[in-house]
Amino acid sequence: MKTYKDLPSDAGSNIIGQVTAQVNRLQKRLASVKHTVAIMSGKGGVGKSSLTANLATALTLKGNTVGVVDADINGPTLAKMMGVRSATLEYTSIGVKPAITALGTKLISMDLLLAEDDAPVIWNAHTQKDAFTWRSSMEVGALREFISDTEWGELDYLLLDLPPGTDRLPNVAELIPNLGGVVVVTIPSEVSQLIVKKSVTMAKDILNVPIIGVVENMAFYVCQHCGEEEPLFSAEEPLDSAFQQAILGSIPFDPKLARASDNGTSYLGEYPDAPASKVLMQMAEKIQAFFEN
Ligand SMILES: Nc1ncnc2c1ncn2[C@@H]1O[C@H](COP(=O)(O)OP(=O)(O)OP(=O)(O)O)[C@@H](O)[C@H]1O
Ligand SMILES: [Mg+2]
Repeated sequence: MKTYKDLPSDAGSNIIGQVTAQVNRLQKRLASVKHTVAIMSGKGGVGKSSLTANLATALTLKGNTVGVVDADINGPTLAKMMGVRSATLEYTSIGVKPAITALGTKLISMDLLLAEDDAPVIWNAHTQKDAFTWRSSMEVGALREFISDTEWGELDYLLLDLPPGTDRLPNVAELIPNLGGVVVVTIPSEVSQLIVKKSVTMAKDILNVPIIGVVENMAFYVCQHCGEEEPLFSAEEPLDSAFQQAILGSIPFDPKLARASDNGTSYLGEYPDAPASKVLMQMAEKIQAFFEN
């Protein structure tokens, strides 16, 4: 298949110039970011977005300047989870100002760009056959613009919340060649572990992106009446032998965490002593240690 580089003429569009300018804009923006971290999982619904929101808050509480990219273009949830859905984006000559949470975490999300609550993102294609190719190239294009057109300022951390699927990381790794690392999220079910192991292989063996660690979410449930820890899923294999990677920790299921996500309030701010909050703060420390060592 020919690429744009093989075209005998660009019909005056200066396509190579345009692509080079895009790459330069992205690199310039990333130059003010110290560490980039992708939160990923091959499996859907395991808690990537709520983990991203809470880790961003934890890193902010630890004194870092933190930006978040909701890289789930079709199913953006972070504006709601981080309580900034009503924010109006301000456009300046150097980019768009991100939404800012009460604690000062910055966020850009497709959700902030859609006019109506129930408006889906629709990728136009000339024919149905083209739709898949268009969708993936337009998703990458949207992501590139999110990162490069946002006025992030100086950031200690830029977290990217990826949509479910093992195939999403290659796009991000292509956009951010020096991606600092990935946090891989699973739940303690064999079905989840089966899929999430593929995410580990993709990151480590295929893309050579460092794995900061594996997070086990919804690890157990603490009975509100007797205080006993009850398992929620059935995986028998311990996390470290299942993944053979650094383990960042196990987060219990806490209905208050789900409620905070729905309400867009800060779980860590409201319940700093909850077991899940303590684990989340420890995870933020481990992420900092990963980059400091
Ligand atoms: N530890 C937890 N305790 C209670 N609720 C949780 C926990 N983790 C996640 N949830 C809830 O589970 C639901 C799914 O979480 P979330 O949207 O973060 O998953 P996801 O992996 O980002 O999903 P998707 O694959 O669709 O992007 C949300 O309602 C969230 O609030
Ligand atoms: Mg999500």
